[in-house]
Amino acid sequence: MGDCELRGFKFPYYGPGFKLLIRLGFGIRGPRKKIIGQQLAGIVESVGKEVTNFKPGDEVFACTAMGLGAYAEYKCMSEKGLVTTKPTNMTFEEASTIPVGGTEALHFMTAANIQNGQTVLINGAGGSIGTVALQIAKSKGAKVTAVDSAGKFDMLRSLGADHLVDYKQEYFVDRNETYDVIFDIVGVTTFSDCLDSLNENGRYLQGNGRISRIDKSTASSNNLKAIDTLADYSIERLIELRELIEKGTIKAVIDTTYPLEQMVEVHKFVEEGGKLGNVVVTMY
Ligand SMILES: NC(=O)c1ccc[n+]([C@@H]2O[C@H](COP(=O)([O-])OP(=O)(O)OC[C@H]3O[C@@H](n4cnc5c(N)ncnc54)[C@H](OP(=O)(O)O)[C@@H]3O)[C@@H](O)[C@H]2O)c1
Repeated sequence: MGDCELRGFKFPYYGPGFKLLIRLGFGIRGPRKKIIGQQLAGIVESVGKEVTNFKPGDEVFACTAMGLGAYAEYKCMSEKGLVTTKPTNMTFEEASTIPVGGTEALHFMTAANIQNGQTVLINGAGGSIGTVALQIAKSKGAKVTAVDSAGKFDMLRSLGADHLVDYKQEYFVDRNETYDVIFDIVGVTTFSDCLDSLNENGRYLQGNGRISRIDKSTASSNNLKAIDTLADYSIERLIELRELIEKGTIKAVIDTTYPLEQMVEVHKFVEEGGKLGNVVVTMY
């Protein structure tokens, strides 16, 4: 079990300190915000009299971040929040999958500084973050190895994956292959695990907030680098995502769409594993 360093504090990962951190954020005795959900797409119903950026009828997509509350028919947001015009070439369902996973993907794929022709391995490529990260890496001219379960291989190929590894059958670090970038979204590896799988000047990144597992003290030969960073949620990122979508760089991957009334089934389905990309909940 590693440590988790967040904003200067150090906690054992998934240990009591980590759980305390989560509870401080979301509520000590139970969820402080009863309505969860962090991303949405919809139509502006009404605006306050001082709002200038939006008007009723505008089509938007948004990230509610720690404010949560997206599992609802209506959500009140500040016009200065993470809300902007929906991509014109996406449905509401598609656009609703992008703000959080897309921000994470865009952040890490930007930090990876991928150059044309480089090799990139994405661990957990078939999920919400991975499907966007894969498309961004391909748009930068990378050869991408996508690691996920075999049931997602057709979808991953359709997004441009060049090589596929089934994580249920093999651990990618045991393959005798090296990459310029390893992006471990699920956080099951450590930087040390991946040293032999990185080319000279290789970069290792980890999503999932498991910063702890990036052991910065690991001696790295060949100028290997672990990029220790957390995604920055900003309106600029959301706008950049919209532009990439409208350029055709990013498409949404939706497994299933459920009505709001079936939220319990949605969570059961997602927790079972195996979903392709995203699951969407509709409010109409
Ligand atoms: N999406 C977000 O907004 C967000 C934001 C911040 C942090 N995170 C965290 O980042 C992680 C990934 O998020 P996500 O939304 O992309 O999750 P996700 O949609 O569930 O995708 C994760 C993918 O990784 C695969 N996977 C599971 N175990 C694996 C392993 N050992 N090796 C390789 N692949 C494996 C899963 O396959 P199966 O379906 O077969 O299990 C799934 O396709 C999560 O832990 C999440 O809590 C997510």
